[in-house]
Amino acid sequence: METETHVLDSPPPGAAADWTIPQNWGHYSAEEHATWDTLFARQAKLLPGRASEAYLRGLDVLKLSKPGIPDFEELSERLMKLTGWQVVAVPGLVPDEVFFDHMANRRFVAGNFIRRPDQLDYLQEPDVFHDVFGHVPMLADPVFGDYLAAYGQGGQRALELGGLKYLGRLYWYTVEFGLIAEPEGLRIYGSGIVSSYAESQFALDSDSPNRLGFDMKRVMRTEYRIDDFQQNYFVIRSFEELLRRTVETDFAPLYAEMTAEPDIAIAAVLPDDEVITHGTQEYARGRGEAVAG
Ligand code: PHE
Ligand code: FE
Repeated sequence: METETHVLDSPPPGAAADWTIPQNWGHYSAEEHATWDTLFARQAKLLPGRASEAYLRGLDVLKLSKPGIPDFEELSERLMKLTGWQVVAVPGLVPDEVFFDHMANRRFVAGNFIRRPDQLDYLQEPDVFHDVFGHVPMLADPVFGDYLAAYGQGGQRALELGGLKYLGRLYWYTVEFGLIAEPEGLRIYGSGIVSSYAESQFALDSDSPNRLGFDMKRVMRTEYRIDDFQQNYFVIRSFEELLRRTVETDFAPLYAEMTAEPDIAIAAVLPDDEVITHGTQEYARGRGEAVAG
């Protein structure tokens, strides 16, 4: 997951001017590769019937089931042939303009470290499992690949227009925590969900969260939480529609309008929402959250 706070303002020692670092694949220990394999086996078993078709296809065509932490060079070679994307390593969070520049140029920035064996279930900062298992399969899908590259360009524009807060929410509720309605039922495609054992069940099975039809402006006005399961998921109908709507809309006037409008509380359900499930919010309440809507 990405947050909007970045610690450093210039590349740390050992990083290139564009903030990339060597993945140093040869330096992973056997224990680190084993952590990947454990996480992989657990998710790969859970995701058929839960993850979107595009995601499962990506997992397959990129051969991510090969044991051990993937080698970014090998992965990039496969990805490049499919959609023109590459995976590059960076030392943790990078400045927004660096993040967007890589993305607009079809370079997906990934952390190269892996979580410790006692952190299998939850970790606040994105590691190689979240970044590669969570994000990269979707980049093998031509439409989603175009969406993310367009998002990178949109990010560069949002920085100039003061729209980052709004555009960041679009990322959160699609790239990180998106659901899609497929003919067989709701499926997950957001990387924050597919890389989480618990949330890949909660997002589809729990009565607690709201599941609402995706509406671009509604999403951009909605707050989000980074520290627990989402209380709110937005459901797209297709990646084509997501791409078309976001690319064809000029966000400049939207950013201007939204500045004058109140944000929407996390769990609120509004009269205009297309409600797929109106959640009980029981989970959030049990965690001591105030629940609106
Ligand atoms: N159309 C958006 C803009 O005018 C850019 C964008 C494209 C944003 C795709 C997100 C996804 O800024
Ligand atoms: Fe992420």
